[in-house]
Amino acid sequence: MTTWINPKDVPKIKLHTGEEIPCVGMGTFGSDRFSPEQVSAAVAGAIRCGYRMFDCAACYGNEDLIGAVFAGAFQEEVVERKELFIMSKVWNDMHERVEESCDKSIVDLQCDYLDMFFIHWPFPNYHAPGCDGDARNPDSKPFSVEQFVNTYRQMEALVEAGKVRHIGISNMTIPKLEAVLPLLKIAPSACEMEIHPCFQQQALFDYLVAHHIQPIGFMPLGSPQRPERDIFEDDVADLQMPEMQAIAKAHGVHPALIAIKWAYQRGQIPIPFSIHEKEYISNLKCLTENPLTEEEMQIIATLEKNNRLVKGQVFLWEDAKDWHDLWDEAGFIVK
Ligand SMILES: NC(=O)c1ccc[n+]([C@@H]2O[C@H](COP(=O)([O-])OP(=O)(O)OC[C@H]3O[C@@H](n4cnc5c(N)ncnc54)[C@H](OP(=O)(O)O)[C@@H]3O)[C@@H](O)[C@H]2O)c1
Repeated sequence: MTTWINPKDVPKIKLHTGEEIPCVGMGTFGSDRFSPEQVSAAVAGAIRCGYRMFDCAACYGNEDLIGAVFAGAFQEEVVERKELFIMSKVWNDMHERVEESCDKSIVDLQCDYLDMFFIHWPFPNYHAPGCDGDARNPDSKPFSVEQFVNTYRQMEALVEAGKVRHIGISNMTIPKLEAVLPLLKIAPSACEMEIHPCFQQQALFDYLVAHHIQPIGFMPLGSPQRPERDIFEDDVADLQMPEMQAIAKAHGVHPALIAIKWAYQRGQIPIPFSIHEKEYISNLKCLTENPLTEEEMQIIATLEKNNRLVKGQVFLWEDAKDWHDLWDEAGFIVK
């Protein structure tokens, strides 16, 4: 029988709107390795074991099957729509047609409205799902404040129309946020960003918290199954760091659970992915027991290696030098 974790026992965090959401969600990106059938079967199991937050996206290519799972769970009265926090994202080729993208995600996910809708990347540069690492689109352009705000205005209209409850942003930088935040009518509620022990993004994390934007950490386990295009020779495997393994040993658990506990205790919402029941159950359950000590938290804080895994090179524009240009590392927007 599937273990059931009472959703009431899963810690919650308050968004700036006052809404309380679970401190862990389930990712649904199959990483070009897991089929939509495998991912949606995991979502079905996850709902039944107590997950209430799901991180979906149009470009993951599985929203229709996940929607069938949601519909089944509502029909069987496993859960009510209002108990779930369903997130989706507009993909880069739909920045001019945000409402159409939102409508399709709502229909595919069979969910009536989205709890949070993200701008997946802050520019319309498009690459085909599953492309290889050298793929470039000649139409790609550097970030434009005007273009971003145009896309964001369409997100705001969706909130006004009742189709979306919260707006999210993703893969942003401090210089981009500085440029756009004063221009927005409805403040973003959350920002999805890559965070794992060897890539903590402390400055961006602090900036978001100071602006009441909830950080949501993607790839919280260092994404050991990430797509080929995101694997580089110098990458560090977070869960194999001796410090992570030692803390895991002391707790008698897999290092993955230490990364999730650290994420929660630091203040970001981790959204780990797994198709394996034992793993996704333990990823939820670990927040209800045996927290890390202050000393263990401090040890993990020292593991920062600036090891960005999603470099984003497939989104580069013609005159860009390399992937570093996407992340405004010198403190200004690279054009
Ligand atoms: N906004 C964005 O641009 C963006 C970008 C990337 C990802 N995301 C979101 O973030 C989610 C998570 O990222 P991710 O899937 O790349 O990486 P991740 O959650 O860091 O890693 C997932 C992998 O970790 C392993 N794992 C999971 N739980 C485990 C456990 N308890 N014990 C041992 N191993 C475990 C699984 O590998 P095995 O199958 O080998 O067990 C799984 O495939 C995605 O699904 C997606 O929703 C968003």
